Amino acid sequence: MLTVKNLVVAAGHPSTKLDIVSDVSFEINRGEVLGLVGESGSGKSITSLAVMGLLPHPQLWVRSGAIELDGADITEEPPHLRVERGHGGVSMIFQEPMTSLNPVLRIGEQIEEAVRVHDGSTGEIARKRARELLEMVRIPDAQLQLNAYPHELSGGMRQRVMIAIALACRPQILIADEPTTALDVTVQMQVLSLIRELCDAFDMGVLFITHDLGVVSELADRVTVMYGGRIAETGPVGELFHNPLHPYTGGLMGCVPDPAAGHRRFRTIPGQAPKPGEVPQGCKFAPRCDHAQPVCRAGAVPAVAAGANHAAHCHFPLSQEAL
Ligand SMILES: Nc1ncnc2c1ncn2[C@@H]1O[C@H](COP(=O)(O)OP(=O)(O)OP(=O)(O)O)[C@@H](O)[C@H]1O
Ligand code: SF4
Ligand SMILES: [Mg+2]
Repeated sequence: MLTVKNLVVAAGHPSTKLDIVSDVSFEINRGEVLGLVGESGSGKSITSLAVMGLLPHPQLWVRSGAIELDGADITEEPPHLRVERGHGGVSMIFQEPMTSLNPVLRIGEQIEEAVRVHDGSTGEIARKRARELLEMVRIPDAQLQLNAYPHELSGGMRQRVMIAIALACRPQILIADEPTTALDVTVQMQVLSLIRELCDAFDMGVLFITHDLGVVSELADRVTVMYGGRIAETGPVGELFHNPLHPYTGGLMGCVPDPAAGHRRFRTIPGQAPKPGEVPQGCKFAPRCDHAQPVCRAGAVPAVAAGANHAAHCHFPLSQEAL
């Protein structure tokens, strides 16, 4: 349903040739959750903003590649046109709902605004739709809560309101950029279950961005791992967790604390992710990779596959079956 092909996002003036995101390709099908993981600065948010058409131009812009929704190229289409095209499109929710909601407007008014912009309905009809949307995201006493201000709701409830606003335009794709990072674990699980339920109920594709591999294992059908603005590996969630191909994916898995293993220290991947502009030749992960060989530091890195849906970019994948 959503296809991103060889996306390159650049920063600054075209002559600087500073690419923040390079050659990123993925697809999301109906009713599917794609988890997008990678450490801070790997380009997850920039990729999602490019899909939304919300890159802060002219600082960041799409240098090349295509973003297709149901086969139509939306790369150059501004977000308001995507909304006006009618049902379907891409909606997004962010990490901290309080910074997205207007603190001086009641939540009912904010949801009604989204309804009005999307389908033109006003007055009682918009009010009714706002209440239905709040019920859809399982907010108790929806009628009453329409009159609440954002500060009167808990963090979990505010994130549900953001999801309600996102659903107002009946999106085909929901992008969630770390929507549960600011929530406690119990509320996080409730919001994750809600997203999964909505994805199944509306046959909606979800791009779920997170640092948390536990969350990915709970929610995602497939996972894409980004490193240094590029895709390191993509695969079905079970396969990627049990049979990672890319040493970076293996490193991320190794960082998940396992109380049963009795380790007294947190494990990390030594070194730092490359900053844009400080990009090493060849494989960007080479300075941190235990498996690096001289060939890794020169030229293009080959794609390797382990089955139809599982692939990585690496000269020496962890699973030899992929060679
Ligand atoms: N406006 C901008 N101009 C230039 N570079 C930018 C701009 N915004 C972000 N970047 C750079 O782009 C890179 C990718 O940033 P991005 O926000 O996509 O990372 P991320 O994977 O979402 O990280 P996090 O997990 O911390 O949210 C970072 O190195 C960041 O410094
Ligand atoms: S290409 Fe080489 S350096 Fe890069 S991840 Fe694979 S083995 Fe490591
Ligand atoms: Mg981010």
